[in-house]
Amino acid sequence: MSDIAKLQIGENTYEFPLVKGTENEVAIDIKTLRGATNGVITIDPGYKNTGSCESAITFLDGEKGILRYRGYAIEELAEKADFLEVAYALIFGELPTKEQLDKFHEDIMKQSVVDDDVKKILDAFPKNAHPMGVLSSLTSALTAFNPSSVNVDSEEEMYNAIVKIMGKFPVLVAWTMRKKQGLPLNYGSKKLGYVENVLKMMFEQPNEEYTQNPVLVNALDKLLILHADHEQNCSTSTVRIVGSSHAGLFASLSAGISALWGPLHGGANQAVLEMLEAIKEDGGDTKKYMGKAKDKEDPFRLMGFGHRVYKNFDPRAKIIKVAADEVLAELGVKDPILNVAKGLEQEALNDDYFVKRKLYPNVDFYSGIIYRAMGIPVEMFTVMFALGRLPGWIAQWREMRLRKEPIGRPRQVYIGENVRPFVNINKR
Ligand code: CMC
Repeated sequence: MSDIAKLQIGENTYEFPLVKGTENEVAIDIKTLRGATNGVITIDPGYKNTGSCESAITFLDGEKGILRYRGYAIEELAEKADFLEVAYALIFGELPTKEQLDKFHEDIMKQSVVDDDVKKILDAFPKNAHPMGVLSSLTSALTAFNPSSVNVDSEEEMYNAIVKIMGKFPVLVAWTMRKKQGLPLNYGSKKLGYVENVLKMMFEQPNEEYTQNPVLVNALDKLLILHADHEQNCSTSTVRIVGSSHAGLFASLSAGISALWGPLHGGANQAVLEMLEAIKEDGGDTKKYMGKAKDKEDPFRLMGFGHRVYKNFDPRAKIIKVAADEVLAELGVKDPILNVAKGLEQEALNDDYFVKRKLYPNVDFYSGIIYRAMGIPVEMFTVMFALGRLPGWIAQWREMRLRKEPIGRPRQVYIGENVRPFVNINKR
């Protein structure tokens, strides 16, 4: 293939270089397009055909169902690594040595307390506030409590901001849940592993010592790894674009949390469980809901199905489906909504509408079932997604800063009124 793309506009032909990735992905580099053509731009709502950056973090091939972090297959990472190892590899590029991992863990755990005044902010939220709104606000508030983490330029300053947020974020996650449940706002223990510490902070009861359940530790480790990065999705692009203005890491993450909240993105895991519950309450008639999903007049969509990039299967869904079966069996949970889920899945996989549009169960179709078995309230599901995605967001933000990417500022094609005279209010 030639390494030049030619574009003809009217009589004129323009040439643009092709950029090739290490997995042979090809892009047309249009950096000079507007200048060379006297103002012509491209338009691509939803950015379905637009690469916003070059990135060395995550590779995914939606057609083949491949997902790799830093070159490592997601299947291998989910089986052999723990979440903190994966976080380290995502952020710094290589799997850590034992010493590097121990130091990373120690640095994070030193930071795993938050200013006590954060409790006052939490107190001010109504009890029925959605945890994602609370989490986004508290993450943004951390900026005020940690001013040295705002203007970070050197790698050392970035590292300090990174271990701070890796340490403090699980505290915010746990407190967001506990506040709603009326439980005391506790701390974990520096001695625990990262995921064990999260579980202790979330589930410890005031009147008994918390004992770790290895099934839960393993399940949460897996879930967090599967959610840890997914290249330039809605929330990650948000983190990169906010960070590109040199807003601090915590502010950029707070924006990413808001983006993740939506039901078409991370909010889907909550929406899936609510949908399964509703179908069960309605008598479990999965055919009726399949019909609604296919009816273009009906706004209902089968939540947990379809993906912008995976058009054959979601490799995370494959892993998580097996994990869900294991966790439910080991915990002895018999959840009736599992039958609804299995029914829907079978019907969708054999239905022309879904097959033609390549709509397969995505990661969120199964994650909620595990979270529920672990005793995590439905409203917290997307918060758990955010906890998993944290290292991915950080890695993408750090890469963007180290590559000195310019501020994100897309263009538009204006379709409004042409210039017209102002009309005084008494004449309108
Ligand atoms: N149920 C019914 N029809 C659907 C669904 C669905 N879940 N998803 C897509 N379609 C149809 C859609 O109506 C369209 O049909 P047509 O071609 O006749 O107009 C066609 O499939 C293509 O859909 P699209 O909306 O153009 O595809 P997209 O790439 O813009 O959207 C999506 C991807 C994930 C937003 C969408 O599939 C969806 O809304 N799924 C349900 C929400 C969900 O589970 N989201 C979690 C995604 S995984 C977690 C994450 O990474 O954030």
